[in-house]
Amino acid sequence: MKSVVILISGHGSNMQALLDADLPDARIAAVISNQADAPGLEVAQRRAISTRVIPHRNYPDRTAFDAALIEAIDGYCADLVVLAGFMRILTPEFTARYRGRLLNIHPSLLPAYGGLNTHERALADGVKLHGCTVHFVTGELDHGPIVIQAAVPVLADDTQETLAARVLCEEHRIYPQAVRWFCEGRLSLSADGKVRIDHAQRADGALIAPPLESP
Ligand code: GRF
Repeated sequence: MKSVVILISGHGSNMQALLDADLPDARIAAVISNQADAPGLEVAQRRAISTRVIPHRNYPDRTAFDAALIEAIDGYCADLVVLAGFMRILTPEFTARYRGRLLNIHPSLLPAYGGLNTHERALADGVKLHGCTVHFVTGELDHGPIVIQAAVPVLADDTQETLAARVLCEEHRIYPQAVRWFCEGRLSLSADGKVRIDHAQRADGALIAPPLESP
């Protein structure tokens, strides 16, 4: 059984998807938020999961904030730290400490569209496929080794909201899968930065958007 600590800043819908997945090898030890009013905190409390608020504004700089986070996380003997809509950039000290046991979900097909406003930028570029990525976190923002991705079509009449909703549905599917692999001891990051998933099935088929028409 692996001890998992989830960090959130807001809604926590990915956190909820992880709780709903009821992973047999994971014990959600705590949910920590940097925002006291994050709606996800209440969701966790209703499920009797320990919650903690560590407001970043109470600390003079990122290093001090991250040190407080580390102290809290280590207090739960975390095997895995899961960033789920956690909107703070972490220091190199933090990412190095949890190397190979720190996951993030990002709402784009990385390495495209790291950073913010991913759906708006995808729509502006006119891409036909967009999606989401679970990756190990390294010192380079949104560039860590990729674990799993899901692609969705971008529709002609999409708005940022409709596209975000389609991507979010897939986030809720791939994040529990990645955490499940980790907690089963099947997902790891090697010293040379390669992701290994033992006994992963082979993907097949292609997502083509707009779809091909039969002649
Ligand atoms: C998600 O798209 C997540 O990838 C991003 O913030 C959005 C909301 O996440 N970082 P959640 O509902 O708080 O999990």
